[in-house]
Amino acid sequence: MKTLLTGGAGYIGSHTAVAMLEAGHEVAVVDNYYNSSPEAIRRVEQITGKSVTLYEADAADKEKMREILKAEMPDCIIHFAGLKAVGESVAKPTEYYRNNIDTTLTLLEVMKELGLTNFVFSSSATVYGEDNVPPFLETMPKGACTNPYGWTKWMQEQILRDAEFASNDTLSVVLLRYFNPVGAHESGMIGEDPQGIPNNLMPYISQVAVGRRDHLTVFGDDYDTPDGTCRRDYIHVMDLAEGHVRAAEYAVSHKGTEVFNLGTGNPYSVLDMVNAFSKACGHQVKYEIGPRRAGDVQDSWANADKAKAVLHWEAKRGIDEICRDAWKWQSNNPQGYGE
Ligand code: NAD
Ligand code: WQD
Repeated sequence: MKTLLTGGAGYIGSHTAVAMLEAGHEVAVVDNYYNSSPEAIRRVEQITGKSVTLYEADAADKEKMREILKAEMPDCIIHFAGLKAVGESVAKPTEYYRNNIDTTLTLLEVMKELGLTNFVFSSSATVYGEDNVPPFLETMPKGACTNPYGWTKWMQEQILRDAEFASNDTLSVVLLRYFNPVGAHESGMIGEDPQGIPNNLMPYISQVAVGRRDHLTVFGDDYDTPDGTCRRDYIHVMDLAEGHVRAAEYAVSHKGTEVFNLGTGNPYSVLDMVNAFSKACGHQVKYEIGPRRAGDVQDSWANADKAKAVLHWEAKRGIDEICRDAWKWQSNNPQGYGE
């Protein structure tokens, strides 16, 4: 199968490129390097010994995307390109709506012109909102999001459903709701490389462990959980990547819209992750308890039964592998790709 990955130089896209190539599929990548580096794709090629066709372009640029998609005519497009920082989306909502929604509309319009039919989308568990109670099931109603980033995912899901509905059984749309993607490829050659101060837990812990930051602040220990800290469904990025291979294979052989949670189904607390990482790196990761972070939900984890039943996929790696691989990436590349 020929795949085209928008945002394929980013964290999840680069790991998915490895999994796709290893499954015997072809990969082309479109990225504008807003939050990534072409070095990630060079490393994907080193890991796999296979080549990737790389285009530097804005996925919202219709002329450019027409040219690229005409040249590639992929069997399946996987749309990772997007802005993803929750806090920044509150400060810059129009940039988030413009980039995330425009890229999706452009792709749908050009796909229609060229007769391309299969689309896999990076959605998020954030669309379950605050009122659903975990484990989250695909059949639950979407909830109200707590920030513009979340709303862009909510809206893109709706746009894709509407486009598929109007296509008279031509389009195939797979909406993948990721839980908390973490970890790195087991080689330690590619991983998450956040710009500036990390917003997310695992890159923050990694940077404390490697000495780039003094300590982690744990956002609240007064939640109604066994150790008082929030619980999440942390999924190894290579498990997530392999889920995309199954989802793309499913997309090309079905029509309609399907939603899948990609999570493990197992919740872990913030302190569980600090302890697992401390074990993996061989020293205690320093932390202090701070106040709750605005917008955090206490608990979020998946019911992952549908992906297992329909895609024949389930997460195989646990938090020890997650921390081992994240540490390998961070300790081998203390400044990420920027060295
Ligand atoms: P990332 O920032 O590492 O990757 C996104 C990539 O898209 C980057 O390489 C960036 O340069 C590129 N990009 C952004 N706008 C673009 C545009 N207009 N044209 C071309 N390229 C563009 O993020 P990620 O963690 O790999 O996330 C990938 C997707 O998964 C995103 O859509 C994100 O919202 C979604 N997602 C991520 C998480 C997470 O926790 N990482 C969770 C749920 C969903
Ligand atoms: C995990 C836990 C924090 C940092 C976000 C987005 C979500 C999705 C994934 C894209 C929480 C705690 C964190 C720190 C801490 N992205 N924490 N100290 O908030 O579950 O999800 O990323 O779709 O939309 O909201 O992930 O990694 O930020 O936080 O104590 O310095 O770690 O309070 O309990 P979150 P996270």
